Amino acid sequence: MDFLQLDGKTVLVFGVANRRSVAYHVACVLEAAGAQCVHVVQNQHIRQSVEKLLPQREVFICDVQQPDEIEQLRRQLAERGYKFHGLLHSIAYADYSAGPLPFHQTPRQAFLQAVDVSCYSLIALSNALKDLLEPDASVVTVSISTTQMASESYGYMAPIKAALDSTIVFLAKSFSRFSRVRFNAVAPGLLKTSASAGIPGYVDAYLYAEKVIPRKQAVQTEEVASVAAFLLSPRSSGINAQKIVVDAGMGINYFDRELIERVLREQELQWHEWLFLQQKRRVFCRMLLKDSNSFNSMNSFVARADGPSRH
Ligand SMILES: NC(=O)c1ccc[n+]([C@@H]2O[C@H](COP(=O)([O-])OP(=O)(O)OC[C@H]3O[C@@H](n4cnc5c(N)ncnc54)[C@H](O)[C@@H]3O)[C@@H](O)[C@H]2O)c1
Repeated sequence: MDFLQLDGKTVLVFGVANRRSVAYHVACVLEAAGAQCVHVVQNQHIRQSVEKLLPQREVFICDVQQPDEIEQLRRQLAERGYKFHGLLHSIAYADYSAGPLPFHQTPRQAFLQAVDVSCYSLIALSNALKDLLEPDASVVTVSISTTQMASESYGYMAPIKAALDSTIVFLAKSFSRFSRVRFNAVAPGLLKTSASAGIPGYVDAYLYAEKVIPRKQAVQTEEVASVAAFLLSPRSSGINAQKIVVDAGMGINYFDRELIERVLREQELQWHEWLFLQQKRRVFCRMLLKDSNSFNSMNSFVARADGPSRH
């Protein structure tokens, strides 16, 4: 049964770079459901590898930082007579070349470029391509599971994704003046993709996430792709201006029992180590201070010293 009702539909897909890309997985699900995908990639180099990865698909080029390239893309798609039932925006970029910096030292240029590519591009593309969308088309972007958890390893991208989350709400409203086009976001937890590999400290955060997720297994990109395909399909027609979190339950599991026990065990160990050190210091003092007065004052000094905090 064609549950998703995507058979014969055409979807414009932004963001395939390689076989790990979220967009690649979404395209696979869409095609398996009978949809045709038309791809747009960042540059000629990526186009060559995407044409190898997805032979016989049409692949256009558009660097979303370049307004002329967006206009050229619109012209090319219009000339080819395309009308799209869906548009996937799976694009983000952040320049972390300055290394992991405290958030308040985020370089202005890096932040503005990241907003331009990762958020403003959705506005620019939606506006440029609005006449190529079917009146009830679905536009889906890829956000992140939470913008409220200040994960240092994610640097300054979370505030930018927060802007993206708000952008879908405003696009949904402004498009409602002349169409029934819907805007939604799929919001994954940590995934294994090449974009994430470039984020300083990401691997540790990914391994930690696996421990916090109730099922103890990270979110798979295929799971995100299935939700994106559903949002792109007419089956989700009642969903508009929403962000659907796909984090395998990580967000509800701050108080993971295993992790709590592990942290407390470590604290317990530190406490025992501290007591052991105290003992050693006493023995050391006894050896050094034969005089009982000096010994007592040293003893009280040892007893006053702070141990590891016990909450
Ligand atoms: N990997 C994760 O853990 C994770 C988690 C949550 C959300 N996401 C989001 O998923 C989306 C896709 O990322 P991904 O993980 O598949 O990585 P990816 O590197 O495969 O995809 C990012 C895409 O953005 C494109 N891009 C960057 N700058 C561009 C520009 N100027 N013009 C046009 N295209 C440009 C790249 O070419 C690439 O195709 C992003 O929005 C990312 O923030 C990823």
